Amino acid sequence: MTIAASSDLRSRLDASVATLVARAPKGFVPRVGVVLGSGLGAFGDTLGELTKIPYGEIGFPQSGVVGHAGNLCLGTIGAPGQSRVPVACMQGRVHAYEGHPADRVVFAVRALARWGCTKFVITNAAGAVNTALEPGDLMLMTDHLNLMGWSPLSGPNDDSLGARFVDMSVAYDVEMRAQAHEAAHDAGFVLREGVYGGLPGPSYETPAEIRMLRVLGADAVGMSTVPEVLALRHLGARVVAISCVTNKGAGITKQLLDHKEVQEVADRTRSRFVGLLERLITRL
Ligand code: HPA
Repeated sequence: MTIAASSDLRSRLDASVATLVARAPKGFVPRVGVVLGSGLGAFGDTLGELTKIPYGEIGFPQSGVVGHAGNLCLGTIGAPGQSRVPVACMQGRVHAYEGHPADRVVFAVRALARWGCTKFVITNAAGAVNTALEPGDLMLMTDHLNLMGWSPLSGPNDDSLGARFVDMSVAYDVEMRAQAHEAAHDAGFVLREGVYGGLPGPSYETPAEIRMLRVLGADAVGMSTVPEVLALRHLGARVVAISCVTNKGAGITKQLLDHKEVQEVADRTRSRFVGLLERLITRL
């Protein structure tokens, strides 16, 4: 894993914020950042007063993975007449397995935090490790295992951005988690809970790795989110994360794994997922 020197990180982030301000509607400052994972991008198109900016126009790295559109959606959430929450919503993310250095994987979320987002909702598609989780379930992340073998916080630290040694005791915000449960209840379903194991990918796991993850305490497994959460906690942003369980982990059933299936299941949960995010964000 290449660790980029971070000595100029602050100036690169400031330049990115200037680009965002220039491209956004006048006076728009987002309060909540949202990252939409594989096949979960639909929420971005539901924002009120939507401005959609391709990542290429604002210097955000573009993912080559199907299901990651690569647009920043700026807009608001909240019914007319209610107070509206300004949101910056990433339709897709980049992953280290695509060849991006650590610093690039988390650049966009860092830029959104520097711009004004103090709270983030991170989403992903994940495989079930816990046999009680079913495809189509939405799982609130209570914690994670960083099994990626790297951290975006490695390398020189800019103390003006965040601490060298970041506390991860309560990485997933307790109040925001309660709000996510309320939002799900309001939408008429139960949000599952569990620990997410973050692996580097890009292959899916072997059945032995799924059994190992279960022993380690993971309920679900995926290839994202953990670096973003580390980078955001470093900057002091508050985070909640939701996994869309798209499949049972390798070896749990006889079925083989396929990204198409991941996308199809994510697609089938679309309306529940969008309903949850809307209800959650209006509470934040
Ligand atoms: N493993 C890793 N990442 C995933 C999976 C999986 O089974 N499903 C969706 N993303």
